[in-house]
Amino acid sequence: MALKKMMSCYGVLVLLIVVDINGVWSISREEDLELERQLKILNKPGVKTIKTDNGEIFNCVDIHKQPSLDHPLLKNHEVQVVITLIFKSVKEKESPSVLGKGIGCPIGTVPIRRTQKEDLIRAQAFSKLRTRRYADNSHPLAPESNVFRIHTNKDLLVPEYYGIESYLNIYNPTLSSPDQASTTLIYLAGGVDVSDISVGWTVYEPRYGDNKTHLFTYWTADNGATTGCYDLLCPGFILTNPDFPLGLTLPSSTYRGAQYDLKMRVSKDPKTGHWWLFVADIEFGYWPKQLFSFFGAARELYWGGEVFSPSQPFPPMGSGHFPEEGAGAACFMRALKYQYEDGGAFEDILDKGMSVLADSPGCYKVGPLINRGGFWGITFLFGGPGGQC
Ligand SMILES: *[C@@H]1O[C@H](CO)[C@@H](O)[C@H](O)[C@H]1NC(C)=O
Repeated sequence: MALKKMMSCYGVLVLLIVVDINGVWSISREEDLELERQLKILNKPGVKTIKTDNGEIFNCVDIHKQPSLDHPLLKNHEVQVVITLIFKSVKEKESPSVLGKGIGCPIGTVPIRRTQKEDLIRAQAFSKLRTRRYADNSHPLAPESNVFRIHTNKDLLVPEYYGIESYLNIYNPTLSSPDQASTTLIYLAGGVDVSDISVGWTVYEPRYGDNKTHLFTYWTADNGATTGCYDLLCPGFILTNPDFPLGLTLPSSTYRGAQYDLKMRVSKDPKTGHWWLFVADIEFGYWPKQLFSFFGAARELYWGGEVFSPSQPFPPMGSGHFPEEGAGAACFMRALKYQYEDGGAFEDILDKGMSVLADSPGCYKVGPLINRGGFWGITFLFGGPGGQC
């Protein structure tokens, strides 16, 4: 029998209720010109164009000419192709099939998803949604009572973290309207400027143009005020892997059927200070330290889900089932780990006075953080059907 030990945890499960995104969709002529300018940067001609079965188009762009290098802070940035991370030797059994075979760009190039103007317009709306998690909890239409979360205890004595990791159970929740989003993610945040790196999966039609489950990344260096975006919609993230793009479609687990999960890790390279993304132990690329002025270490780590909806009813989170139903029915996260020292080993998260707080229990819940050891490690279940919250 696995040792069942109740623990409180770091993590967040957030329900954000957001209205008035309609205003964001109409754009002025100046904005239109700006979008055209951005598109020119993002859609660089590649050495090869690849269309996936999913209908997505990727350009294989020279790794040293990728759009992110146009970021003003990354002038003369040498793409770090060889990773110096020490912990790479830790190899666990993994199911690479979750990621498929990859796009297969030629060596020395990386796959950049072709961006349409609509993608950028929607992305603006999407980043506004994210910003409100920190900045606008007091929004009259998103009262605290409607925010569902587990969050760190602010009284933590040593809040400095250099990496986060977990296996994320993958689902494809059915949303009740196409302007909603349902996301399962891990993220690190910190710095006086509220830098944030988030990774996970999301169903969000306005962003990806379909209702499938997509791998996503997000970063900001100022709480979404002027910097940051999803995936590669703005210069910033440096891709290093020729096979795996950001935004790729993921397979979904089925209720009480086959379960898929995906190991995700973000970790600071102690030598260069860049923040690397690993998915299923494969390095995808990194966020250069130059993007963040005050992000030497993260102050907060989060594991959980979040949903966005402009109106009632709210969409499902996770699998759409409550934790009481157990793994295979409710969405899980397992093997929650963090990096406590710069370049140090990834360790099971420990109870250091962390607190759990959950709202909207009629719509979404979180189970206890449990140490089940072995395959599961430190794990918890979360999510729910949403509805009238
Ligand atoms: C996704 O959209 C298709 C076509 O509109 C629909 O048949 C399917 O049920 C949807 N799936 C989910 C999970 O929302």
